[in-house]
Amino acid sequence: MKQKRLVIAIDGYSSCGKSTMAKALAKELNYTFIDSGAMYRGVALFALENGMILNGNPDKESIIDSLDEITLTFETIEGKQHLMLNSRDVENEIRTPAVAEVVSEIASISEVRQKLVREQRKMGDLGGIVMDGRDIGSVVFPNADLKFFVTAKPEIRAQRRFLELENKGIQTNLKEVLHNLETRDRLDSSRSDSPLIRTKDAILIDTSFLTPHQQLNKVLEFVHQNATIDN
Ligand code: CDP
Repeated sequence: MKQKRLVIAIDGYSSCGKSTMAKALAKELNYTFIDSGAMYRGVALFALENGMILNGNPDKESIIDSLDEITLTFETIEGKQHLMLNSRDVENEIRTPAVAEVVSEIASISEVRQKLVREQRKMGDLGGIVMDGRDIGSVVFPNADLKFFVTAKPEIRAQRRFLELENKGIQTNLKEVLHNLETRDRLDSSRSDSPLIRTKDAILIDTSFLTPHQQLNKVLEFVHQNATIDN
């Protein structure tokens, strides 16, 4: 007899603590953690580095034509998951404001989404996965065993992301960070392909006044209710 290995989908707004929650949950359950946003950021970095952003706007045709040249994988380095773009470790580069500035426009391109969703589904084939993003419960794994929709007040999210960037030595200011989060939330929620939505079966978690530890305990309660025994 062994425990069923669940597929857990975590969606929600920018910087609301999804990745922190997903990472901690995967560690606790000994599951694979996949940050799907890192993959969209990887495509955005490729576009930036290859002259496919013109006056701040993505050159959609060139990006679509180059998709076969983009290979995205994850590698665990010193216990932390790093995104590899064509075998190069780009974990730091994908977190910069320059990438945050263009990523949501790029994530609205259907061809980009089709490629990444295909790869994300392959990663979840065997279960035992926690994936966070915007369309995980709605599109990538509509039959996920557990779905969470995470939210937090915009000012609190901006403050958290600002501190995160500051700790990484990335120069920015709170106002710019807040503006970027609000712009991305708007684009992510209003795009025609796979907009950010809360599906009916997703459990709502507001992390505004929760510590990472409290967040984890809250989701674990739901996981334990769902982890039925399989033969
Ligand atoms: O960490 P943060 O919440 O700021 O964002 P992220 O998870 O790194 O995702 C970056 C961007 O990728 C989002 O703003 C979305 O535009 C896009 N994204 C998406 O469209 N679908 C996903 N499953 C994940 C991210």
